[in-house]
Amino acid sequence: MNSETPKSLGEQNYEQFAHRYAEIASTKPHNAYYERPATRSLLPDVAGKRVLDAGCGPGFNTEWLLDQGAAVVAFDVTPDFVTITRGRVGDRAAVYRADLTQPLDFAEDASFDGALCPLVLDYIEDWMPVMAEFYRILKPGGWLVFSCGHPMGDWFLASRIGAAQRYYDVEMFEYTWKGFGEPYPVVKGYRRPLQDMIGPVLAAGFRLDRLLEPQPVEALREIDPEEYANLDREPAFLCVRARK
Ligand SMILES: C[S@@+](CC[C@H](N)C(=O)[O-])C[C@H]1O[C@@H](n2cnc3c(N)ncnc32)[C@H](O)[C@@H]1O
Repeated sequence: MNSETPKSLGEQNYEQFAHRYAEIASTKPHNAYYERPATRSLLPDVAGKRVLDAGCGPGFNTEWLLDQGAAVVAFDVTPDFVTITRGRVGDRAAVYRADLTQPLDFAEDASFDGALCPLVLDYIEDWMPVMAEFYRILKPGGWLVFSCGHPMGDWFLASRIGAAQRYYDVEMFEYTWKGFGEPYPVVKGYRRPLQDMIGPVLAAGFRLDRLLEPQPVEALREIDPEEYANLDREPAFLCVRARK
């Protein structure tokens, strides 16, 4: 990446509030009692495995993977998150600044046992080159686990704010996030139909291994009954495991 490269959508979004995100998402019910447990439930045993944390954000998963005994390489496009993750894990992991929409020059062919990519792909319009790059860097039999906005959940969300045109298209929409303090960040992402999520995974050569529409964990019912009721009624995320 050089200074001429236009900023990716992910960086434009998260540079607004990276430090607040790092603080709040560590315990925010949506993340801590919904997305993270669901996505992690799809991971095979990572002890002794070489794992890529793609779009590591503040490094919650980088640290968790290290604690499970994995050798971890992490990267993110938002500079503040690279700094925060380095601060969290020190020299226990290599942490790079890199853009998932570009070739991952630091990663050799067939050099990782697994790649984890939670809540990142929503900021990328075209998943084809991304899936091809994951396929390239994984060893034969290697796994890819990712989560993203649920196709129906995002459709409902975009419809409610008048930003949905046609279910079958990949559409950018922006949303003001009120859960991470003020000033409220305006976050732009893409919603897409299910076929534009699973299609690129299969076209890259992966085999679909597990698909999860997570429901909130029971502990959330007490901690945040309203959030529990919302997530118990309609899905927010989709979690996928694929194999090379
Ligand atoms: C919702 S956060 C998730 C962070 C982390 N994966 C987690 O689960 O805690 C989204 C992350 O995706 C990163 N991101 C978005 N687009 C990216 C891209 N093109 N390349 C690398 N990282 C990207 C953002 O910088 C941000 O850290």
